[in-house]
Amino acid sequence: MFISFEGIDGCGKSTQARLLADALRAEGRHVVLTREPGGSPGAEEIRRLLVEGTGERWSPETECLLFTAARRDHLERTIRPALAAGRTVVSDRFADSTRVYQGAARGDLRGIVDRLHALMIGTEPDRTFVIDIDPPTAVARGHARGGIENRYESLGLGFQQALAGGFRALAREYPARVRMIDGSGAPEDVAARVRAAL
Ligand code: TYD
Repeated sequence: MFISFEGIDGCGKSTQARLLADALRAEGRHVVLTREPGGSPGAEEIRRLLVEGTGERWSPETECLLFTAARRDHLERTIRPALAAGRTVVSDRFADSTRVYQGAARGDLRGIVDRLHALMIGTEPDRTFVIDIDPPTAVARGHARGGIENRYESLGLGFQQALAGGFRALAREYPARVRMIDGSGAPEDVAARVRAAL
């Protein structure tokens, strides 16, 4: 199975991806835990171009191309070989992030995002969990965390609110694949909700 986690910055999805990978390993499955942007050496190099610097560093169109290039490398070098070897892949973000982030940055980009996806990626996860959390709580966590990888967090609460709406719309668009998970409470409680949904 190919499972992805999605949500706004600071929603806790990275923790949930790790907890699910740990739980599946404890059951004896071979799990590859990976992330986007990144997840392969080449894609990790592209990641640095994307997550560092100012919010205006790239145009939305250029960003779409960079995310798609990183995803293509991730798919070729990490995801497809792992699935072919019978492993379970758990990815912290995948194509839904591009649909929502680049679509929220400029709504009319969704057509470009979809065409690039069809041309270069053409793969969806079997299940996607959106960790749903109140944007002010998530933004406060992001500020507490600090660091240099804050290009999107620096775009502010209004942007995070638009993203949260984008992820909810996505769950309506792909009801068979995408599950909204209540992200409030302790990490173990959220993890139990993910397991129940899976
Ligand atoms: P991520 O490492 O998941 O950050 P965090 O752990 O803070 O959630 O992703 C880095 C940033 O890149 C994040 O703000 C979301 C953004 N992003 C996009 O805009 N489009 C994409 O396709 C992906 C994969 C990420």
